[in-house]
Amino acid sequence: MTIIERAGLVGAGVDRVDGPLKVTGAAHYPNDFSFPDMAYAALVRATIPAGRVSHLDTSAAERAPGVLAVLTHLNAPKLESGPPSFLRTPPPPLQDDRIRYYGQYVAVVVAGTAEQASAAARRIEIGYERAEPVLEIDDPRAERITNPWGMDANRGDAQAALGAADVVIDATYTTAENTNNPLGLFATVAAWDGDALTVHDSTQWPTQVRATLAKVFGVPEAGVRVLVPYVGGGFGAGLRVWPHVILAALAAREAGRPVKLVLTRPEMFTGIGHRPATVQRVRIGATRDGRLTAIDQESLSTVSIEGDNIEPCAAGATSAYACPNVSTRDRQVRLNIPWTSSMRAPGEAQGNFALESAVDELSYSLGLDPLELRLRNYAEVHPQYGLPWSSKALRECYEVGAERFGWSRRPARPGSMRDGDWLVGYGMAGISYFWYQAPCQARATVRGDGTAYVRSAVTDIGTGTYTVMTQLSAEFLGLDPGLVTFDLGDTSMPPGPQAGGSGLTAALGTAVHAACRNLVRAFLDTLAGDPASPLAGCGVDDVTVAGGRIHRNGEPERGESYTRILAAQGLAELSADGDSAPPRPQDAGMAPAGPFGARFVEVRVDPDLGLLRVARVVSAIDGGRILNEKLARSQIIGGTVGGIGMAMFEDTVTDPGTGRVANATFGDYLVAVNADVPDMEVTFVGEPDRYNPVGVKGVGEIGLVGMAAAIANAVYHATGRRIRSVPITIDQLL
Ligand code: MOS
Repeated sequence: MTIIERAGLVGAGVDRVDGPLKVTGAAHYPNDFSFPDMAYAALVRATIPAGRVSHLDTSAAERAPGVLAVLTHLNAPKLESGPPSFLRTPPPPLQDDRIRYYGQYVAVVVAGTAEQASAAARRIEIGYERAEPVLEIDDPRAERITNPWGMDANRGDAQAALGAADVVIDATYTTAENTNNPLGLFATVAAWDGDALTVHDSTQWPTQVRATLAKVFGVPEAGVRVLVPYVGGGFGAGLRVWPHVILAALAAREAGRPVKLVLTRPEMFTGIGHRPATVQRVRIGATRDGRLTAIDQESLSTVSIEGDNIEPCAAGATSAYACPNVSTRDRQVRLNIPWTSSMRAPGEAQGNFALESAVDELSYSLGLDPLELRLRNYAEVHPQYGLPWSSKALRECYEVGAERFGWSRRPARPGSMRDGDWLVGYGMAGISYFWYQAPCQARATVRGDGTAYVRSAVTDIGTGTYTVMTQLSAEFLGLDPGLVTFDLGDTSMPPGPQAGGSGLTAALGTAVHAACRNLVRAFLDTLAGDPASPLAGCGVDDVTVAGGRIHRNGEPERGESYTRILAAQGLAELSADGDSAPPRPQDAGMAPAGPFGARFVEVRVDPDLGLLRVARVVSAIDGGRILNEKLARSQIIGGTVGGIGMAMFEDTVTDPGTGRVANATFGDYLVAVNADVPDMEVTFVGEPDRYNPVGVKGVGEIGLVGMAAAIANAVYHATGRRIRSVPITIDQLL
């Protein structure tokens, strides 16, 4: 049962198995769930960025119609902290009077209807004692920290090499705060039964929600069940267990009734994390003939007062190029802002903008084509480990992308292409994405009617996990996909990791592979005492699965069907578990590779009006084995739209006086819309990856990366103006 040799690189573009459920409303999202006698919670948020609550009068709210409970720091019970994690839960809410950011929850109101709860919430009187907030990344009073989870890297001597280089680029790039903005408002529906708790929650990591709620409330983890069959997007916002999740469960316990809590859109801007702003200095040294001799990248990103967000912006420079001297440092500055956290391609999105812009700047200093400069510094082996990559087709990304884009038609000189009033520019960026894979478990069952049921307590955040895992399960069991159900989103299933870090498909696919392999082995084991079986004496490597049957390798006629084996054994069904944990690189003898990519972008700039339009995007992506071309393409074009947003529109604006997010609505926070998005061509190249038996590399995040640099580089090519700050706004182009 080897997988890779049998599989083509690009899998069938089958439709989403959950598509009809979603478009007919039969797919239930967390806020679609209700319990009998359910109450509703509304949140009250602090309106200062720093200080303490000095006055609190809840009496009018408590007397308001339908109100069941009003909880503040004055009457909330003591709650424990969540479990340790690199995606730690913020400290439990309502435990003291301190205010650390505008939007921090200061009260929760529970009432019979949602309208009664929000009406009563407005009747709480709160007085504050203000402290001086620290809100700007360059405020000298701000505390600077080195994240303990950080990934600073050094090889060679970057400072000495910079001193000795023929050519040096030294530039500083900035990126704005962005907000994840999944379409689905995050919701938690919580119901207690004694110490047992059932929660429907908008999360990317149900097993972490279970562990966190058990620890926070001091109840047995086995009694906590978290359900999330569907979630309306996440983009990283669902990777932590946020305070509102705890407040929903607390409200339900205090009110003695099930409680539903749905965040408002403005609360989505302050309560579930956002992408930090960065200031990044990049220095690159090179020889005259375009060999990189030094890269030094230092990032400063924003983090909340109590936050622990890792933002590995500079770290990507470690593995991007074959450069002997590299130093990267990721530093953070604490501000009185809502929690920063993961947002699609955290760190990579901003770090790639800085590094790939600086490489572009170097290409002009050297008089070299930007693509040629990248090819001259291609990392044939992992430059930090010195080990061969588990797969790498970045060269093909460059070549195929350039060919399809028509890069060879690009004149070298900036400002030399024009179309009427519009200046035209071509820009590109390379992407070397990091690798991440967490341990995962799955269970597979084949039933007496020949159908299969495979499951794991993970989530499908819209990326297509249901569909590709149905495909894989069918392949690993030799069944028609129509006979296979893949299920997820329920912590009563075997535990799985977060849908994040572009790591779930490899982790879960490997676990599903192991479970299905163990299941085939279990079927063979039932035949061990049956010398008459055509499969007698076979081990799992001696057989092939196809058409609902197990047969001897190369001998299709010598086999038995699952249904026949179960019937003969008098079994209703047979199940097996499988788990996966990635090996260490030194044990595997290779460096695990994330996906690679190259972006080629044509922009048009009207220099009189400061208008910028993206006219064409070609993306060439090495995602290892692509399980479902249709879904993978959706991931890349969705990410590309997000990348256009980061490059041109998205900016979470904090009011410098109050610390309030000033544009916390879909009317005010600009995202790329249809009119901003051109035709996007996506090509997949490469071969199955060797680090996992399924051959996949995640494509969930890489689609966003590289767009900011490619657009800024194209703007330079169009105008001769180097923009080192995103989003690129009209004033920068005039
Ligand atoms: Mo992604 S930011 O790991 O959901």
